[in-house]
Amino acid sequence: MFKICLHVQLFCDIITFKLNYKILQIFSFYSLFEDFAAGVVDKMLCKVNSMGLVGLSAYMVTIEVDVSVGMPTFELVGLPDAAVKESRERVRASLRNCGYDFPTGRIVINLAPADVKKIGPLYDLPILLGIMKASGQINVDFKKSCFFGELSLGGDVRKCSGILPMVIEAKKLGFDNVFVPKYNACEAGVVKGINVFGVKNIYELIRFLKGENCISKACFSDQGFDSPEFDVDFSDVKGQKLAKRALEIAAAGGHNVLLIGSPGAGKSMLAKRLPTILPRLSFSEAIEITKIHSIAGQISSEKPLIKTRPFRAPHHTISTAGLSGGGPYVRPGEISMAHNGVLFLDELPEFKRDVKEVLRQPIEDEEITITRAAASVKYPCSIMVVAAMNPCPCGYFGHPVRQCTCSRFKVQQYLAKVSGPLLDRLDIHVEVAPVEFGQLTSGQKEESSQKIRARVEKARQIQYNRYKNHKFSSNSRLSSSQMKKYCILTDSARVMLKNAFDKMGLSARAYDRIVKIARTIADLDSSDNIQSKHIAEAIQYRSMDRKYWKH
Ligand SMILES: Nc1ncnc2c1ncn2[C@@H]1O[C@H](COP(=O)(O)OP(=O)(O)OP(=O)(O)O)[C@@H](O)[C@H]1O
Ligand SMILES: [Mg+2]
Repeated sequence: MFKICLHVQLFCDIITFKLNYKILQIFSFYSLFEDFAAGVVDKMLCKVNSMGLVGLSAYMVTIEVDVSVGMPTFELVGLPDAAVKESRERVRASLRNCGYDFPTGRIVINLAPADVKKIGPLYDLPILLGIMKASGQINVDFKKSCFFGELSLGGDVRKCSGILPMVIEAKKLGFDNVFVPKYNACEAGVVKGINVFGVKNIYELIRFLKGENCISKACFSDQGFDSPEFDVDFSDVKGQKLAKRALEIAAAGGHNVLLIGSPGAGKSMLAKRLPTILPRLSFSEAIEITKIHSIAGQISSEKPLIKTRPFRAPHHTISTAGLSGGGPYVRPGEISMAHNGVLFLDELPEFKRDVKEVLRQPIEDEEITITRAAASVKYPCSIMVVAAMNPCPCGYFGHPVRQCTCSRFKVQQYLAKVSGPLLDRLDIHVEVAPVEFGQLTSGQKEESSQKIRARVEKARQIQYNRYKNHKFSSNSRLSSSQMKKYCILTDSARVMLKNAFDKMGLSARAYDRIVKIARTIADLDSSDNIQSKHIAEAIQYRSMDRKYWKH
């Protein structure tokens, strides 16, 4: 009896399933008929152009949209990340809320090339346009244009990161027009030779595409490179002749610096003023910096182009990923954000050991490679590292007046937090002595940053001319073999260096650093050869490690 009941139940289930399937078929056929009747499904496949990013390099992304008859579905393929996948809901809502139709058929969207991960919500706008065209709601030729933009549910176009490198690539690929979020229009406008249109919302864009002249071209004037503006100046710093001179040499040759001194001696104050004496940026350097900051989403519409060298001062609690770059979207870290500028590491011993060691390779190579499961990307990081530290935990070891309260062991333990290899890479070591009362209160006018910068730029020009056939342009980048060619010592300078080498027990690396610093000092002196006075000055910037670290 039970078995019979079971069979009857099964039979009923099959009949119900078949019935449901039939109803569904009829419904889908009806909706197809309705779509045809309304003329909605008339064009099936269309392509819209956009761009993607791997590191600093942009590549073209073609958004292929296919709207066909069938069960209402929405497929997004071509390695989209979560943000790209969610575009379905944003596009659907924006279309509906702006009075356009979201087609009822089967929608397949492919982001080509299909083997590179697509990241971020910037494909919302091209996807929407593709759907509108494929469903016959607009009839515009997209061949010569590129589109970027995240959509709000109400159809507003929101800002995106990485616009500048993508627009540069769009121009290289021969596109005539780029449509970017209004917020990013000034940033994109920096690129000459391509029409940039800043889009506020999709109403406006559709009207424009249909021929109304409702969006004007964004443009940018590249003025302001000759007189960079800073909030601080070297004339604020009283006295500190030695430290100022050391920073001038560092700026002239692109050397890394370590400032060591007691609390309140003025280390941070001096370091913050270093960008004010660095050579002014060229337009191409400014573009390089702005590209990196654009990828990090840190470009404001008021300052679309970065015209001053970056000064990045990460806190000592920073992680290795924060410093070198990374995260799920592989964003540039502080090292790359400081590209063509200064990375200031205040309280150097307090940084975690692995964070400090991460610095070693990019300081030498001027680029950093970040490898993640999704991709391996390279970011440039041509930086000057300026580090500041106290000589011991209480800060007064070696102070002329105040007594240090730390034991010898504690001082050594503290100093050992800065490893030998890292110390070696910090070319110039300067002891910042506390400023005297007389100097602090004197009304004497100190030299302005502008005057110091003039000398730095002159020395840099000498280096540009000397290294015009090389990829580098500053003394700090000389290799040992190039040093033989470009660092010619006079006889007396050679004797002085030999004596110092024997007496101080210098390492080969320390020898190289001294010669490079001496080369910069000679350039500041407009001297072709390195003289003994240049060597003597250079040696004093490498002698402090012996006082504290006893190397
Ligand atoms: N040479 C100077 N001329 C004018 N003001 C100075 C000078 N040196 C220090 N000061 C004043 O002292 C303050 C503290 O200096 P700063 O923060 O640079 O010291 P620091 O060496 O970095 O100390 P810490 O080791 O505690 O970080 C400055 O903000 C500035 O007001
Ligand atoms: Mg400080």
